[in-house]
Amino acid sequence: MIIPSHHVYATYDTLCDAVATYIYTNIRHGLQKTGTFVLGCATGSTPEGVYERLVQTISKDKPDLSGLSTVNLDEYFPIQRTDPQSYYQFMMKRLWEPLADLSLGFVPDRQADIPRGDAPDPVAECARYEARIRALGGVDLQLLGIGVNGHVGFNEPGSPTDSRTRLVDLTESTIRANSRFYQGDKTKVPRQAITMGIGTILDARELLILASGKNKAPILDKLAALPHAIPDIPASALVGHPHISFFLDQDAAHSV
Ligand code: F6R
Repeated sequence: MIIPSHHVYATYDTLCDAVATYIYTNIRHGLQKTGTFVLGCATGSTPEGVYERLVQTISKDKPDLSGLSTVNLDEYFPIQRTDPQSYYQFMMKRLWEPLADLSLGFVPDRQADIPRGDAPDPVAECARYEARIRALGGVDLQLLGIGVNGHVGFNEPGSPTDSRTRLVDLTESTIRANSRFYQGDKTKVPRQAITMGIGTILDARELLILASGKNKAPILDKLAALPHAIPDIPASALVGHPHISFFLDQDAAHSV
């Protein structure tokens, strides 16, 4: 498949600088134009440096953030919001609290949403989440990482292109990859997650896929070599989105 728009940076640091600048420019533009902006966020190792730089830029420029909302791709299930491994805590620590601390009008309780890993009724929670995204007017810019197996969000291989937010089982490969956050102990990694579906992600007005490191080169190579999208590589369903860009570092880019 032709990887439409892709930008390659020498290092992870320069990649994060560029992505943070890109996101911030979009947020500023959106807030100026319509008064609101909905940023779709991802967790994982790749966006960590992006959030750090985004907060730095915002702290210098001091825009009014009362019109900014964020929604996250996914959350483990079951997991408590107080669990340090929850994506809720990841976002609190990396983005929401630092933004709230700047007193620019960003109030996480009101403006940041993520699926509840502690929901008593996960099916109702998925419906609530889809409704929240719709009520916000949809996602303006969705940030995404890519799994070594081609997953996006927690849409594992085989996920239907029209899938919506739902409860899913994690694959062995994802459990293995994420055990690095659990001292390598696979048995501690939650077995399920609530994730936006591929269809939910495709509804965003713009998609940004980030990848860093040599371990992402094989899946990106596979993606580039595909003649068309296949359910076995969920990220391939996103390549046809009218406004998608790949931001990669040199190690991940390989032959893309
Ligand atoms: C995280 C998410 C995942 C990650 C992917 C890559 O919210 O949705 O799809 O983006 O697993 O993770 P890292 O960046 O840790 O390699």
